[in-house]
Amino acid sequence: MASHQAYDVVIVGGGIAGLSAALRLPATVRVALLTKGQLGESNTRYAQGGLTVALGEDDSPQLHAQDTLAAGAGLCDETAVGILTGQAPSAVRWLMALGARFDRARPGSNEHATRDGLLLGREAAHSRWRVLHAGGDATGAEIERALVAAARQRPSITLYEESYVQRLLVEHGVCIGLLALDRSGRPFTIEAHATVLANGGAGGLWLHTSNPAGATADGLALAWQAGAALTDLEFMQFHPTVLVAGGASHLISEAVRGEGAYLRNHAGERFMLRYSELAELAPRDVVARAILSEMLAEGVDHQYLDLRHLPAARMHERFPTISAICRGYGLNLASDLLPIAPAAHYCMGGVMVNAQGHTSLPGLYAVGEVACTGVHGANRLASNSLLEGLVFGLRLADGLAGQLAGDAPPARRAIAVLVYDDLQRYTSLLRISPDRETIAAARRELRQLMWQYVSLRRDEEGLLAARAHLNTLEARLLSTHTATQDASIAPPTWYETVNMFKVAELVIAAALHRCESRGSHWRSDHDVLDSTLTGSHYVLQPVRMSKMESGAELSGVSLCK
Ligand code: SIN
Repeated sequence: MASHQAYDVVIVGGGIAGLSAALRLPATVRVALLTKGQLGESNTRYAQGGLTVALGEDDSPQLHAQDTLAAGAGLCDETAVGILTGQAPSAVRWLMALGARFDRARPGSNEHATRDGLLLGREAAHSRWRVLHAGGDATGAEIERALVAAARQRPSITLYEESYVQRLLVEHGVCIGLLALDRSGRPFTIEAHATVLANGGAGGLWLHTSNPAGATADGLALAWQAGAALTDLEFMQFHPTVLVAGGASHLISEAVRGEGAYLRNHAGERFMLRYSELAELAPRDVVARAILSEMLAEGVDHQYLDLRHLPAARMHERFPTISAICRGYGLNLASDLLPIAPAAHYCMGGVMVNAQGHTSLPGLYAVGEVACTGVHGANRLASNSLLEGLVFGLRLADGLAGQLAGDAPPARRAIAVLVYDDLQRYTSLLRISPDRETIAAARRELRQLMWQYVSLRRDEEGLLAARAHLNTLEARLLSTHTATQDASIAPPTWYETVNMFKVAELVIAAALHRCESRGSHWRSDHDVLDSTLTGSHYVLQPVRMSKMESGAELSGVSLCK
């Protein structure tokens, strides 16, 4: 029998989005915050580059918005972008008042800084120096430290660490809370007026990723299973420069190129000059594609990042984390060519939400990477992700606190609603309970096939092969394991794996349907951007909901598949 608790708000996820929302709620609001690992172990912690905010004397929220829209390749929601960039300065002040400390300019130095001395970094596709950073390249770690410390001191926030959310509870079409397992595997339910998903992205679906191991798309799967619409899943951002050394993948921040690093191929050529007049500071999708093109042309599995022309002492000081990672693989950040390749990094799509974080399912809210507010469009501008979690986390809390609006469905233009009824299939998978080795092997196979067929470059043939392979993998698991009557006995790792299967299937469906190349979605069989699809989104919704409920509107554009 599951134990039962009641709160005003339950939040799943302990990164910048979930913690900002929790801390912004008034102390009179009773909040439960669940993390599947220890609090502090989230994608936020690994963010290196920083937090964008237009605070420079030559900058403005309008210029920040322009750069965000340009990177987003015609798919950003302009209203959401205006909110993001316009509310960034006050959100950052809130974070600093809470205790986050950003790097400051040395007195008398000529470094790029705000009037009050905050150092500003530069990253790709930003027309201004506007990226706040901390500890050089440990920005996410400092933000997470400040937020975790504040949350631990707030009596109105009850923390449930190492608690795995199995499913959302839905009654009469309203999300009323969740069912979770505690660290000993005991089930418990939490009922709340508002259930908030803030549990990050899906990078773990791919073999090579900059994300920590926990990025297994749980939030997307939970929302889907509960009946909420998802959108823009074909847009997975591949970070251009992930260190490939010793079989591991480690992020090398875009800020390194912002400081002047070059990309070189095996012939030693600074090839980005051939691809964009912005060279290494072109938008992330352009740089990632160029690196892959050079890898394919030379038949190699990496290219190089080159800092050898930059002042060595300054590079080690500016990037202490990256310098230490390189050292761990016998590489000197400043004097060696660093082997890099693109890797899965950030999911631009997610649970479809409006600007207050409402999903299409009443009672359910989403914020941060798991949500799709539309600010990133087809390609996220560097260092806008921490900012999105912060700004929309605060907005969500303000909306909940003020009892704003009554769960209005998000309005978003859509070119098609792809309806799926897969509940039965995943319920069957959860009735089996494979051993640890089988689970690990199934995950490896899934991540390998996503890497092979649903990567930076895709085509119809490969996407169909991925779908067939996934079906075969699932069928094999079902046929070789005995099902029980009870789907609630599976361990969290198997739940995570089934979530990964589920979301992989949806990503493949979305990627198959978008027959153009735009932003991070590069279809080699549809190699150009189709201007008739500008501003249009694919919405995926479980069959359990009617089209009207999703808030999506069909415009009659025919699909290629
Ligand atoms: C980076 O520092 O390059 C990663 C930060 C981001 O993804 O925006």
